[in-house]
Amino acid sequence: MSRSLDQFVTQKLDALEAQSLRRRLVETDRFNDVEVHRDGRTLISFCCNDYLNLSHHPDVIAAANDATKRYGTSSGASRLVTGNTPLFSLLEQRLAKLKQSEDCVVFGSGYLANIGIIPALARPGDLILADALSHSCLLTGTQLSGATAHNFRHNDLAHLEELLRQHREAARHCLILTDGVFSMDGDLAPVAELAVLAAKYDAWLMTDDAHGIGVVGAGRGSSFVTGAKVDVPLQMGTLSKAIGGYGGYLCASKPVCDFIRTRARTLIYSTGLMPAAIAAAIASIDVIETEPAYAALPVQKAQRFTRALNLAPAESPIVPLILGGADETLAASALLEAEGFLVTAIRPPTVPEGTARLRFTFTARHSDADIARLATIVREKIMTKRAAE
Ligand SMILES: Cc1ncc(COP(=O)(O)O)c(C=O)c1O
Repeated sequence: MSRSLDQFVTQKLDALEAQSLRRRLVETDRFNDVEVHRDGRTLISFCCNDYLNLSHHPDVIAAANDATKRYGTSSGASRLVTGNTPLFSLLEQRLAKLKQSEDCVVFGSGYLANIGIIPALARPGDLILADALSHSCLLTGTQLSGATAHNFRHNDLAHLEELLRQHREAARHCLILTDGVFSMDGDLAPVAELAVLAAKYDAWLMTDDAHGIGVVGAGRGSSFVTGAKVDVPLQMGTLSKAIGGYGGYLCASKPVCDFIRTRARTLIYSTGLMPAAIAAAIASIDVIETEPAYAALPVQKAQRFTRALNLAPAESPIVPLILGGADETLAASALLEAEGFLVTAIRPPTVPEGTARLRFTFTARHSDADIARLATIVREKIMTKRAAE
């Protein structure tokens, strides 16, 4: 037993506790598509990324069960050894078709995709410019690459261009990174304008569409919100949100995907996704492609909520209510829990210091009555109280 190790972590935990920043895992039984059991109570969850409730869709569950029976519970090895079950190429074709790209590579998760793709494409001598509110795994991938890195202010095209003017010429290659739909803010990146800047400065644009696929741009994601496809050479995303399963992907040209298959360390040195997750994703894409009106529901439900509270109209299923301090955000979350709603407090370092928030997420199967009741409680017990302070 190492006493110094335990002492070290205990001190760290105590310091986090004192700042209301310690995190805890709470057992949560997601027994149906919108409700959960937690601490012996039934709560309506407004903080789950299963935007289309596909994790509980009978066809998706049946596809996962069938794949497990046919191929077993694990792919058994890296995809480059023996783990490349026949389901992979089917899923990759379906994703490429949905995202209108030439090819696609599937990874074990979205996090693994980003920390594999970015260091495969960029290294010391290259330049990475990332939106300051990009997801943690884009920033970790950037660090792992060893490239020169700068963040541009959130969605600030002028700042991005200033950085391109300053640093592009000295770098061999340049990657521009952004979430397509920002995970903690719910707003969209100006993908079309970013693509114009990327072309002007010979930079490669990569969007992380974890929260876009299935729910914006008629289910195709953030490159499609204005109707016509914006040419984004690296469309990355995850199968763990609206797709209702697990896994990550990159949609790109055939040469890029071939290169990633041979150079991304998280693809080469990690076991392939389990067959159930691959089959589930294929079944989910069936729903997204055949039921566009259903895929549009999460954003409509979020807009119902923002309308009720006079907030800026939701652009995605994610609506933040920034409260500032970690303490008050935890208290607001506890208040909602007492009213029967699960809305987890989001605190630094997940979001910048001073911007702790409630992050509401809306799904296709939330009822309008529950959304109205949630909005009333938020207005009367959280927003009005804050305004009075
Ligand atoms: C924007 C974004 N990118 C990537 C990820 C990681 O994806 P995954 O959960 O599949 O690892 C997440 C969420 O967890 C995310 O919100």
